[in-house]
Amino acid sequence: MDAEPVTEIGRRGFLAAIAVAGLAGCTTAPPPRPAAAHQPGVLGPGRAAFTLAAFDVQAQNRVELADTLRALSSPVPNASVTVAVGASLFKDRFDLYWSKPRQLERMPEFRNDVLAPEWCHGDLLVQVLADTPEAARAALARPVPGLAPRWRIDGFQSQDSRNLFGFREGAGNPDTSNAAAMDDLVWVGPDDDEPEWCVGGSYLVVRLIRLAMPTWDRKTTEEQEQVFGRRKESDIPLGKSEKDGGLDLPKMPVDAHVRRAAESGGRRILRRSYSYRRSAEDTGQIFTCYQRDLKRGFETVQRGLAGEALERYVMPFGGGYFFVLPGPRTGTQEYVGQRLINAG
Ligand code: HEM
Repeated sequence: MDAEPVTEIGRRGFLAAIAVAGLAGCTTAPPPRPAAAHQPGVLGPGRAAFTLAAFDVQAQNRVELADTLRALSSPVPNASVTVAVGASLFKDRFDLYWSKPRQLERMPEFRNDVLAPEWCHGDLLVQVLADTPEAARAALARPVPGLAPRWRIDGFQSQDSRNLFGFREGAGNPDTSNAAAMDDLVWVGPDDDEPEWCVGGSYLVVRLIRLAMPTWDRKTTEEQEQVFGRRKESDIPLGKSEKDGGLDLPKMPVDAHVRRAAESGGRRILRRSYSYRRSAEDTGQIFTCYQRDLKRGFETVQRGLAGEALERYVMPFGGGYFFVLPGPRTGTQEYVGQRLINAG
């Protein structure tokens, strides 16, 4: 699909394989668990251009849905393509109801949201990462049967990862090079209460958030730092004199974004944010986060943010809940989503 490895063997799958190997010769050995494989584009790294395209699926049956997924799985030069599905895919058409990831539902409206229906949800979501907007566009231009466009947004990331409010993104993210942490926080595992085909996938939350730039720009740097709880230039958390990865929460304003997020277990989600600029008046942030457990992850953090100072400067208007399909297993000819098609 791109230059990145298409699959990564999950640590749990690897350990399961070792455990089975250790039991070789023992007649009661359980059958080996298939190694979890993941799609690219989740753990990063971030790239300069980012596009999300949501679709309604028009395929009429599972055979046609398989054709759609097979076409989406074909390699694309210079771009990383990640395919995710929404709760509506599991409704009635494909007899997939019992295969739905347990926590996948339609994204509810949160306190500060003003959701525009034309910018929300979708049966299927394609995420594209590339070095240029042209490469991202080209990845979405190839013919894929059975899809009707629903919404689409192009994003970008500045080289120093600063968002349009001028603050750097990512400091409080978990370490993606720590495979055990990623198994714990991001990837659905074999012991989770989920259909078996979900192992190696991840819940993806998308929030399209308009930023009130003129109001923000009228604030002083000190006022802006109070809103986030970090210094604008250096990223150092308020109340600390250096960056050591830690936070001194009582020294931050009670409604500071970072304090609220951290207090509600924010480091349990892997965040990736990109900026968008649709017109001079409509600029903002495409917030995404990946997690193994949607309720303990995004929903808990989002509820913890209710009433935060940042609410005065942001307006979430779209997005949705999706589930990133597991990747094709190494050494197989699987397409992305094949195990879902064969499920149930
Ligand atoms: C437009 C909206 C948003 C902006 C501009 C924004 C910006 C930021 C910034 C600048 C930081 C500090 C650097 C970092 O750790 O990345 C941060 C931290 C964080 N944000 Fe946001 N954010 C937004 C929305 C959200 C949402 C919707 C959530 C989750 C529901 C979220 C969760 C977090 C978490 C968990 C942290 C890390 C806290 C820690 O250090 O433990 N943010 N955000």
